[in-house]
Amino acid sequence: MLEIANLTHTYGTGSTAHHAIDQLNLSVAEGELLCIVGPSGCGKSTLLRSIAGLIQPSGGVIRVEGEIVRETPGNLAVVFQDYSRSLFPWMSVADNVALPLRRRDMDKKQRKAAAEEALESVGLAAAAKKYP
Ligand SMILES: Nc1ncnc2c1ncn2[C@@H]1O[C@H](COP(=O)(O)OP(=O)(O)O)[C@@H](O)[C@H]1O
Ligand SMILES: [Mg+2]
Repeated sequence: MLEIANLTHTYGTGSTAHHAIDQLNLSVAEGELLCIVGPSGCGKSTLLRSIAGLIQPSGGVIRVEGEIVRETPGNLAVVFQDYSRSLFPWMSVADNVALPLRRRDMDKKQRKAAAEEALESVGLAAAAKKYP
């Protein structure tokens, strides 16, 4: 499902070059759960940003379901640690959940239904109704 071959990423160039990831190989099968654990600065976010297509790695190839990642895969979601930058406080809970679906070929009604279903599936439907 996820195949990473010889992933390398360097920030900066010349004397300020910083090798964040050097020749990483990794594969994750369908249904497998993977946790990436390591000290601050070891390259976890660089790896996740590369998988999500948010940065272009310096080298190597990442495939999600066989497709080389060149932009954010349509079925991939990233939840950033810093909620103050991931959520829009002036929007309702349901509208925040539905926002990324604007990239999909779905009309407003379909996005609303999908957001409600997602909130229901994690037991947040009632809470979301309190903050419409
Ligand atoms: N935009 C950047 N420019 C230069 N160096 C960076 C940048 N982002 C991260 N780094 C460096 O790359 C290394 C890996 O960072 P990062 O992937 O954020 O690690 P982690 O998420 O594991 O804490 C760190 O040494 C960090 O200082
Ligand atoms: Mg990080």
